[in-house]
Amino acid sequence: PHVLRLSVMLLLLLLALLSPRAAGDPGPRPGSWTWTRTRPRPSPRDSDVYLDLDLSSVRHRVDTRFLSFTIDASLAEKERFMALLSSVKLQTLTKALRPAFLRFGGSRQDFMEFQPGESKGPRNLTSEESCGLTLLPWWLEEQLKEEWAQFQEILIKEDLEADYGDLKFTATTVDQLYSFSSCCGLDLVFGLNALLRTKENSWDGANAALLLEYCQARGYRMSWELGNEPNSFRKKAGVVVDGQQLGRDFAQLRELMSRFELYRQAGLYGPDVSQPRHRRLYCCVCVCVCVCVCLSYYVCGRDTSLNDFLNPDILDTLNDNITKILEVSVKHGAPGKPVWLGETSSAYGGGAPGLSNAFVAGFMWLDKLGLAASRGLQVVMRQALIGPGKYQLVDPNLDPFPDYWLSILHKRLVGRRVLRVEMLSQLGQGERVRVYLHCASKRRYAAHTHTHTHTHTHTHHRKHQQTNSPQTVIKYPTCPRQNVMLNGVVLKMVDDRTFPDLRGTRLPPADRLQLPPFSMAFFLFHEAGAPACS
Ligand SMILES: *[C@@H]1O[C@H](CO)[C@@H](O)[C@H](O)[C@H]1NC(C)=O
Ligand SMILES: *[C@@H]1O[C@H](CO)[C@@H](O)[C@H](O)[C@H]1NC(C)=O
Repeated sequence: PHVLRLSVMLLLLLLALLSPRAAGDPGPRPGSWTWTRTRPRPSPRDSDVYLDLDLSSVRHRVDTRFLSFTIDASLAEKERFMALLSSVKLQTLTKALRPAFLRFGGSRQDFMEFQPGESKGPRNLTSEESCGLTLLPWWLEEQLKEEWAQFQEILIKEDLEADYGDLKFTATTVDQLYSFSSCCGLDLVFGLNALLRTKENSWDGANAALLLEYCQARGYRMSWELGNEPNSFRKKAGVVVDGQQLGRDFAQLRELMSRFELYRQAGLYGPDVSQPRHRRLYCCVCVCVCVCVCLSYYVCGRDTSLNDFLNPDILDTLNDNITKILEVSVKHGAPGKPVWLGETSSAYGGGAPGLSNAFVAGFMWLDKLGLAASRGLQVVMRQALIGPGKYQLVDPNLDPFPDYWLSILHKRLVGRRVLRVEMLSQLGQGERVRVYLHCASKRRYAAHTHTHTHTHTHTHHRKHQQTNSPQTVIKYPTCPRQNVMLNGVVLKMVDDRTFPDLRGTRLPPADRLQLPPFSMAFFLFHEAGAPACS
């Protein structure tokens, strides 16, 4: 084990979407290599990418819970499935992603009504106590997982038809959700139903008041949202709520919260709009929330392809959308308010089978995390930890999908401070290699040795010529398979409580970094001498 000075660690996240062909390569391969056809055959040197790193200043500082995630409200459609949250395996996997927000919401939140009941059981539990609150016997867990896998088909069909029945949820659901988030060290964000409306079409907060009352009586520290995708209320419920009305609804919720000791200072986030063009919804709501929240998906799950998942133009739509959101939030009403991606994944409609749950989804996921941080977004909430569809972090058996492993590497390695990095390359379409630079997270790592071929990256430290080569570089490479391989080993839990080895590989001293095509890697530079990270 090799413990180094932490204050100067730097982290570089590199995604190679497409790598140019090396000499002797037989030619274009299936997939989206097409750019090589329009250019003369590149010489091997063309595969070099030069990076200009600015280590002198911090560009943005993201929230400590930058990488966060959601639980889709559909888990509560049948109360018994909430018991899956007591699974030791799920709790182990989730704890490893803290600190994080846990947003409970989604399309069904606007069809859910709270049925208050007796407040039961001990209050104000510590997180340890919350973990042991309900024991899920193995046979029940197996049975629930099986039923859950089948029930997902029904949920996906409902989503497809935007056909949601009214759904009552009890105190048990709230207790299970809160125990889970408390046990796993998460900050719970609960999405309230905005479709409970009066004849005059203003929000009816009576049911929310019952829920806040119950949660306060239980000592539940949490924050709130109101409505999911208000821009699609017409499609889902035949109701139109315009920006001004939604703004008044949020103000009403804020007033309601102020009547509760525990929620007077609590977070209120919104409006969870899924299209940046709905300016009025943002403008009217962002003024009275603590954080301006938007939703984001690249493609439709039923109508997409492998090429889309690797297409830099599609990845870049996120950048354009962030520009629009920041414009709305800065120019109209909420300058300086943090902006979050409050629900986001690769493909909407539950994800794309065979893509959203495969290694290839990682390009969208890591690029989104890198891009959002480089644009100063504070939090990115991944849809979803668990829920119906293909874009979850865990499968119906509660085993990790590839994006889970990338999330955990990101959580462990990537720090809050975002630095500037520019890429200079002969690739023409340089976007096919994506690079993000952060100060490393303050944790310690050990290293061992390994080598690689193909894309070469030269780093050049602007303004800090004296510190040319970092002393030690540790690489966390992942390889394209259905599963995620780290350092050539398929990542897989050892058992319900034990993680596989997630250590990187210490590279021999060299002036370039190498990256194979279609791969992602985190490079950790020790002793980089980055003033921005000290
Ligand atoms: C439990 O939480 C409630 C609500 O925050 C608070 O009023 C009460 O003092 C807490 N009790 C203990 C024992 O901490
Ligand atoms: C950006 O917005 C467009 C238009 O609203 C949408 O089609 C696209 O999916 C969005 N992309 C992302 C990544 O949010």
